[in-house]
Amino acid sequence: LSREGFPPGFVFGTATSAYQVEGAADKDGRGPSIWDVFIRKPGVVADNSTGEVSVDEYHRYKEDVDIMADMNMDAYRFSISWSRIFPEGVGRVNQKGVDYYNRLIDYLLERGVTPYANLYHYDLPEALEESYNGLLNRRVVDDFADYAEFCFKTFGDRVKNWMTFNEPRVVAALGYDNGIFAPGRCSAPFGNCTAGNSTTEPYIVAHNLILSHASAVKRYREKYQATQKGRIGILLDFVWYEPLTAAKADVRAAQRSRDFHVGWFLHPIVYGTYPRSMVRIVGDRLPKFTNEEVEMVKGSIDFVGINHYTTYYMYDQHIRKGTVMDYQMEWHAGFAFARDGKPIGPRAYSPGLYMVPWGIYKAVTCIKENYKNPTIILSENGMDYPGNVTLLASVHDTKRIDYYRSYLINLKKAIDDGANVVGYFAWSLLDNFEWLSGYTSRFGLVYVNYQTLKRYPKMSASWFRHLLQSKSN
Ligand code: GCO
Repeated sequence: LSREGFPPGFVFGTATSAYQVEGAADKDGRGPSIWDVFIRKPGVVADNSTGEVSVDEYHRYKEDVDIMADMNMDAYRFSISWSRIFPEGVGRVNQKGVDYYNRLIDYLLERGVTPYANLYHYDLPEALEESYNGLLNRRVVDDFADYAEFCFKTFGDRVKNWMTFNEPRVVAALGYDNGIFAPGRCSAPFGNCTAGNSTTEPYIVAHNLILSHASAVKRYREKYQATQKGRIGILLDFVWYEPLTAAKADVRAAQRSRDFHVGWFLHPIVYGTYPRSMVRIVGDRLPKFTNEEVEMVKGSIDFVGINHYTTYYMYDQHIRKGTVMDYQMEWHAGFAFARDGKPIGPRAYSPGLYMVPWGIYKAVTCIKENYKNPTIILSENGMDYPGNVTLLASVHDTKRIDYYRSYLINLKKAIDDGANVVGYFAWSLLDNFEWLSGYTSRFGLVYVNYQTLKRYPKMSASWFRHLLQSKSN
């Protein structure tokens, strides 16, 4: 494995998101997002922590960019906090927030690290949730496009790689079906939820996310792309579902899971329609695109970002069609164990994260074959260690090195076999606020002491430094 083995211009980077690393949540005029509010409910986050301080990248961005440069990383995928720029979601601009992203972008460029800016990583401005139910309301489409346009206009002279949304499936399913993510609405008694809102909400939200994405892309293409010469895409989470047996029913079950994960978004974006299996299973609860919307949605990416961590088995579960359980099984599906009880791969720390390097080959190849061989960025990949291990044990992260090496070898194989992958981002630059796990899970290449906020590059960071030490080709 070497940098030279990857295609010319291939980009290596690390990824983070605003709420997970910035801290300074109530500093310099930032407005709250739905996550600031959601996690105040006790019991939501494992250690009852928040991202209020997190690793304080807001004040320590220079140190973090220096670390990236030391690792020979070409690029940094970060996200912009909508409510840091528009504290009320719309209208008034918070100049101090704008100044922060200008400083970050300028310093990245100064250190030779290319900025990849994602506009939305779960953090809807709370003001929009309060005033019109946020993502459930069509109004969000124009508001998101306005926010996106402000970013293109303000940062696009220097940012040439844009992403609209991170993991819209997670937003719709975890935010509106089982309610374990903000804003914590549920479509059925499930998980933390007691009262069901409506089994339709996740589909409405996903529909509004697709339209928000597409209308931001439209603005970019009509007004900025020709002069700024950048590209724009979306980030989708994609667990690979491996049929447990070669039986037709299992193969079809795995395909359905793929449809409900990436197809939900990528099928409309590539073909202008929802996947056939979704239309059949979800029926009337699935919104329809007007002709005009199809025009806008179809072809609305220059690249697709794939966040890939793990692989599960899938088999037919003989769920009665048309029941709530039916579609919930498609979403929250997958099995880490074969029928003999053997896990699909060694487990990382997170309960759902098994190390299955061949899965990345299949996931990427599936995208190539089923969605017209798009330009792909492997936008997240990584594994975690528990949060409460000593610094010494934590920096000695040989299992993480094995993970990265074996996944990259399989990614390269997919590229050699014709997948058009142009970049790879490790999740994450440094340990940070891991949503429901708080600080009990460490995904970083760099260890952070949460008391002192001091950074300690792990062995995996030096592994990347060596891998990438040859000049970017
Ligand atoms: C995402 C992910 C990240 C997580 C990572 C590790 O939405 O992109 O949820 O934010 O931190 O996947 O679990």
